[in-house]
Amino acid sequence: MPPSDFLPIRGYDHVEFYVGNAKQAAHFYDRVFGFKPLAKLGLETGCRDRASYVMQQGRVCFVLTSALLPDHEVTRHCALHGDGVRVVALEVGDVEAAMHAVKTRGATIVQPAHALEDEHGTLKTGVIKYAGDTLFKFVERGAYRGVFAPGFQPIEALGAEPVGLAAIDHVVTNVHLGEMDYWARWYERVLGFTQLKHFTDQDISTEYSALMSKVMENGGGKCKFPINEPAEGRRRSQIDEYLDYYHGPGVQHIAMNTRDICATVRALRARDVDFLRVPDAYYEDLQDRVGKIDEDFEELKELGILVDRDEDGYLLQIFTAPVQDRPTLFFEVIERHGSRGFGVGNFKALFVSLEREQARRGNL
Ligand code: FE2
Repeated sequence: MPPSDFLPIRGYDHVEFYVGNAKQAAHFYDRVFGFKPLAKLGLETGCRDRASYVMQQGRVCFVLTSALLPDHEVTRHCALHGDGVRVVALEVGDVEAAMHAVKTRGATIVQPAHALEDEHGTLKTGVIKYAGDTLFKFVERGAYRGVFAPGFQPIEALGAEPVGLAAIDHVVTNVHLGEMDYWARWYERVLGFTQLKHFTDQDISTEYSALMSKVMENGGGKCKFPINEPAEGRRRSQIDEYLDYYHGPGVQHIAMNTRDICATVRALRARDVDFLRVPDAYYEDLQDRVGKIDEDFEELKELGILVDRDEDGYLLQIFTAPVQDRPTLFFEVIERHGSRGFGVGNFKALFVSLEREQARRGNL
């Protein structure tokens, strides 16, 4: 049996963030990033220990969760890591089969297959451990017709205008030096993923720092998980900085697709989203590097959008600054035109820019 056949994954279900103040975070994702508040759980809905907001745009679903108690796993997670991703949830057709498969393949079980019910049906979930304190959750929602999950109540709010974010493209994890291979093999062995790409520190390096990356994907290519580890550089790499401030491995960035990156970035800039600044020099010979594309180079320069080309086509991408005070989680907006890559040609230009920000924080 090919490895990817044993665990059919339908796609990303949602990503859950543990945050210090879910109410304010929900406002931020709504007003700034254009996510619509969909459902809520908290004191008003009979939940005594936590509050969660379900936010949706296109097929991207984020859940923002805060604790209501001092001695609580969400409180402890936030104290150690700051705001960050706790759960990456994947949709499967059969949670019991998925949990059985990953258990026999060596996954650490956090929550065995479990059914939640309400008047809208049954939702099944199971949870396993991933890198650091990050978890993978399997969700089976074929027999559930409610708004998100039992316990949640719909929110009657319009939300701000969406900005065109359509789906999650990839989710990147940072791990310690020497751990990338372990986790790449873990994806193969436990989840049946295959390795799509491997970037060495020769591919991704600047004068100061370097990193290595392996990209894992599931059979249908629906879910892509790059894993980064730092490489020896002259100074501390951005991956080391993340690991120091997150206090361990975790999700570094989530990339989301758009069909019109110029419109999406223009809307996000109008709402004061902080993007990484790209040096003007990047655009000087861009046309020579990437050839003919549909977009206007002047507009890309004005908006700070990066372009990369490979054998399959090209992609457009941009990275936000970290979305909390710690230099940890950030977002990427990506528009693909055939390319299945990750913008490796941009890594260098981008890292020079990242390092300038890192130096400003006194961490280089
Ligand atoms: Fe990315």
